[in-house]
Amino acid sequence: MNIEKLKSEFLDLYGQGDTRIFFSPSRINLIGEHIDYNGGKVLPGAIEIGTYAVVRATGDNRLLLASQNMEARVEVDILDLKHEEDHDWANYPKGVVYFMKEAGYKVGGMEILIEGNIPNGAGLSSSASLELLIAEMVNVLFNGGRIPRIELVKLSQKAENDFVGVKCGIMDQFAIGMGKKNKAILLDTNTLDYEYIDMDLKDSIIVIMNTNKRRELSDSKYNERREECEVALRILRQHRDIQYLCDLSPEDFEEVKGYIKEENIRSRAQHAVYENHRVAEASSALKEGDIPKIGKLLIQSHSSLRDLYEVTGKELDAMVAAANAFPFCLGARMTGAGFGGCAIAIVKKDKVEEFIQFVDRQYEDEIGYRGEFYITGIGEGTREI
Ligand code: GLA
Repeated sequence: MNIEKLKSEFLDLYGQGDTRIFFSPSRINLIGEHIDYNGGKVLPGAIEIGTYAVVRATGDNRLLLASQNMEARVEVDILDLKHEEDHDWANYPKGVVYFMKEAGYKVGGMEILIEGNIPNGAGLSSSASLELLIAEMVNVLFNGGRIPRIELVKLSQKAENDFVGVKCGIMDQFAIGMGKKNKAILLDTNTLDYEYIDMDLKDSIIVIMNTNKRRELSDSKYNERREECEVALRILRQHRDIQYLCDLSPEDFEEVKGYIKEENIRSRAQHAVYENHRVAEASSALKEGDIPKIGKLLIQSHSSLRDLYEVTGKELDAMVAAANAFPFCLGARMTGAGFGGCAIAIVKKDKVEEFIQFVDRQYEDEIGYRGEFYITGIGEGTREI
């Protein structure tokens, strides 16, 4: 990312004057998919690619939003913020400012130019990255940096849930806001208790594999999955004293699953319960340095997301199958919401180039166009730079 160039483009666009620069990462999720809204534990980390912004307070109520990656440019009044379809990506920043103001924090007008080095719609959570970026700017520019980070995380999630209308859980905002270099975050999405675990994969590294399949319709399918889990929860609550699906152990679930008559609803619940169990196993394996075990859990997670939760699709399945067919890949799975976007693979360091060549070819043969591959470290959360 050429920050000097972004800054000079900001000055061309908005005129000369002081500027400040912020960065907000993207995230990967090692394991624990589609359970952050089922009270489960997840194991994500922030990555070193993400979203940059140059910003300046306007001193009035105008919020001006432009991006090098996206077409829509908007100018709105911060006292009159509402969701507008044609504002597209700009609804995320608007939503964050709206809810920060509603929560009683100081907000003000800003001129903002954004540039990300994560592909949009890649499933690495460019939206949460953008939300935290704006939240931290408002925090630093107008509130002396005093707003607790967890507040920014929760308000960003609220913006996505209630302004944009995607009923996401808290994993992405949490990972992006609370990221630490070389650490995975074991987050209990029910209590918000968390623990940093060294992301030490020994002689292996994570390769991010982008299917280049846009996540069309993903928001509506995402909300549909959430509703299906709520249906399952309502049924199981008649038989067990639970708050969330992930309060059930696999053994408990086996005892009560018969009460769910509809197969697809039962499958959704089964995924949630077993995925939560896999997270516990994977976090222990990470602490113990048992990387092959993590690889196996990744493979099981993907199968469950494909067969029980049905959020993968042929592109993600092809990418993951190609990765798993490579002898020095310990395991691969989709990461994030699914329906396209990215997968991750744990691969022996000294075989990474061969791996990428192999998967690239297999994927193109199968799907007809190429994917993309990124190698990036696990990094710090959102900050001014
Ligand atoms: C998206 C959501 C998260 C989470 C994942 C699936 O990334 O934003 O809250 O539900 O999907 O694990």
